[in-house]
Amino acid sequence: MPIRLDKFICENTELTRKQAKVRLHRGEVTVDGEVVKNSALKIAETADVCIDGESISLIGARYIMLYKPAEFICSNIDEVYPSVLNILIDDGVSKIDKLHTAGRLDADTTGLVLITDDGQWSHNITSPNKDCQKRYRVETEKVITDSMIEQLEQGVQLHNEDGLTKPATVEKIDDYELLLTISEGKYHQVKRMLAAVGNRVESLHREQIGQVELDQDLEIGEWRYLTDDEIACFK
Ligand code: URA
Repeated sequence: MPIRLDKFICENTELTRKQAKVRLHRGEVTVDGEVVKNSALKIAETADVCIDGESISLIGARYIMLYKPAEFICSNIDEVYPSVLNILIDDGVSKIDKLHTAGRLDADTTGLVLITDDGQWSHNITSPNKDCQKRYRVETEKVITDSMIEQLEQGVQLHNEDGLTKPATVEKIDDYELLLTISEGKYHQVKRMLAAVGNRVESLHREQIGQVELDQDLEIGEWRYLTDDEIACFK
């Protein structure tokens, strides 16, 4: 699909549209070897665009995993806590406004967050129809009983929701800790599921989304780009 030259430049460099126009008008931009000053020119996405003789490489879709610390939120704006996207800004990642998290964790939840600018890809993670499994490590206030585990596995009735939650997979680690794998992502789902069986979440940490596990080499607050194999899990 042809694209406006100034749009092409600002999508694939740090330049704003205004700065791109200035560089164009100065005659610093070439398209396939020819100087072009017309910012509205439609060019092929495969065109070789250079600024000051340096070829612009295309910024493809971006896919990131981040180890979310507590006291950060996954949406863009909040009056109390900073967004996880601020961590990327601080590390010099550009075009942040194009990125979003694929699903959200509560401010007090830690662990794996996936971030992208590919809306179809994140839809494959968050859409209830896609059945994408998420694994959480849960510490509880009260002893986890066999009956609680059975109820969680079978599905529980959440306050103000129709029907039961989808069956979950539960692995008890000890009396106060379990791994819970669920495919839904309702508001405060894990906390409400534990409340529904008469317990309470003390701490919550997401370890895995689909086949993608939180990289053990990441420290809390760190991030990295996903590998091709990890990206392919949600294509
Ligand atoms: N369930 C919750 O209750 N909180 C989260 O952050 C994620 C799942």
